[in-house]
Amino acid sequence: MIESLKQLKQQAVTELSAVTDLAVLDEFVLKYFGRKQGKLTNILRSLKNLDERQRKILGEDANAVKIEIWKLIDNRRLAIKKSGKKDFIDLTVDGEKPSMGHLHPVTQIRREFEQFFREQGFAVMEGPEIESDYYNFEALNIPKDHPARDMFDTFYVKGRDNLVLRTHTSPMQARIMEQKKPPFAVIIPGKTYRHEATDARHEHTFYQVEGLVVDTNITLANLKQVMNDLIRHLFGHEAKTQLRPSYFPFTEPSVELLMSCIFCGQKGCSICGQSGWLEMGGAGMVHPKVFEFAGYPKDKYSGFAFGMGIMRFAMLKYNIPDIRLFHQNDARFLSQF
Ligand code: PHE
Repeated sequence: MIESLKQLKQQAVTELSAVTDLAVLDEFVLKYFGRKQGKLTNILRSLKNLDERQRKILGEDANAVKIEIWKLIDNRRLAIKKSGKKDFIDLTVDGEKPSMGHLHPVTQIRREFEQFFREQGFAVMEGPEIESDYYNFEALNIPKDHPARDMFDTFYVKGRDNLVLRTHTSPMQARIMEQKKPPFAVIIPGKTYRHEATDARHEHTFYQVEGLVVDTNITLANLKQVMNDLIRHLFGHEAKTQLRPSYFPFTEPSVELLMSCIFCGQKGCSICGQSGWLEMGGAGMVHPKVFEFAGYPKDKYSGFAFGMGIMRFAMLKYNIPDIRLFHQNDARFLSQF
């Protein structure tokens, strides 16, 4: 009996030293201490067949072995935990937070625009990205062969040369005026396309927000007011706007929208090309020809329209150096916003 106890202990020590994961350790425990067939359990159980004197001596020995093996098991368990075996789950360690994802920076700036304009009483609408030549050009006073078509490098739909990927959101001006009677104030955010070489400032796919306000007494001063409010909303109260003469076939007069350079405080820097001003988009008073295409009575209404590239706003607001970053879907870029 004493012999088999010794042997058992020896065997246990050897076996235990080879155990490197917790599942095996549990098996080991079962093998020696299992209630039905545990090796040590069996020995302890057989003690009751001995006479009292022997039982006392052997009982003490067996108990000592039992305690010793349990100590080894505990040590083993600790060692395995410390060695960081991956099947050990330490419930006391802080969990890893699942990352939630968030809105794309362009979506964020678009929503900021929408929120601002909604508060100003504008409705928000959307329009088709595949557009007819008619709405993209004709109804905006850009007939075929008009030199202004060169302003818009166009993607045509293969085999359907009356369809284009809209080069701006302005076609929605024509669509809305066809449908609605003034007065109204609308913005139309959306994706636009131009067939051009890409670089840090140009993308073939970009986003504009179109604006259109038509009533009986709208003037350029109203446009200037709305632009001022917008720019201050987005960039703070020091930001100023300027309207500069420009040309679009669908507005008369046409203006270029500029805002004071927020980077250099108009002292001149590389971002504003030393001019102190940043270009935000085009605008103007709706051209009488466009009203005519919409079927409005002559000389009854006046309105202003604008179109702004909102990726540019995002670039200025978040200091993004290259417009192409928006569509590269690099999480290292996107996770910053
Ligand atoms: N659609 C013009 C562009 O993309 C901008 C514009 C919109 C100009 C509305 C005037 C009025 O360049």
